[in-house]
Amino acid sequence: MIVTKSYEDSCQRAAELIEAAVLANPQAKLGLATGGTPLPIYRRLIEDCKAGKISFAKVRTVNLDEYCGLNGSNTQSYRWFMDHNLFNEIDIDKTNTYVPSGLGDLAANCREVDKKVRENGVPELQLLGIGNNGHIGFNEAADLLHTETHIEQLTESTIAANARFFDKSEDVPTQAITMGLSSILAAKSIVLVATGAAKAAAIRGLLCNDEVTTQNPSTFLKLHPNATVIIDAALATAAGYEN
Ligand code: PGA
Repeated sequence: MIVTKSYEDSCQRAAELIEAAVLANPQAKLGLATGGTPLPIYRRLIEDCKAGKISFAKVRTVNLDEYCGLNGSNTQSYRWFMDHNLFNEIDIDKTNTYVPSGLGDLAANCREVDKKVRENGVPELQLLGIGNNGHIGFNEAADLLHTETHIEQLTESTIAANARFFDKSEDVPTQAITMGLSSILAAKSIVLVATGAAKAAAIRGLLCNDEVTTQNPSTFLKLHPNATVIIDAALATAAGYEN
């Protein structure tokens, strides 16, 4: 658990942890995330790669999720997000990057993600954001959670949160393909970064008690031996977390 002065500092810490994993093993497997939160983290990785401080030439990556119905060339797809916000700007071999496909035979795509995760081997580090409702990947708060990759019906709260990235609310996808809890929790280390008062309730559930509940999927991270949660002081205060 790390409480920083600012979100900027949180992103710096997360970037340092990712780079440490790659420096320790240049062939590291990384689990990566999309959303607004990781953008400054990726900008730091790009900066350091361009400055020659770190190389991703032998790194392999797998992303958590993808919207259903969007082609990888759609600017709202997570493949596009990863290409334009990270992969195109660093020295990674694009063939070593994997983002689930939300097009075509979705059941087959789900099986392919789990196969890819098994083939790649356990990631050294999994980067996570968190939804306002505590989702990780797109594992939404619900009575039941899934262990394997599956198609998730997004909740109203998630659709509303994602709408800020779209011009028209009717364009916001309502379904996504997402890794399940077992693939996420299999990573050797997990780094979750959160900021903003909208995340306060989810972070309170994650950090302020010892309960695990499917109604806040992030609470399953309490079962992981090496999960680091990085939040800024403002979010810590909003969540009622005392260091
Ligand atoms: P955000 O999304 O980084 O855009 O807030 C996080 C998430 O939904 O996991």
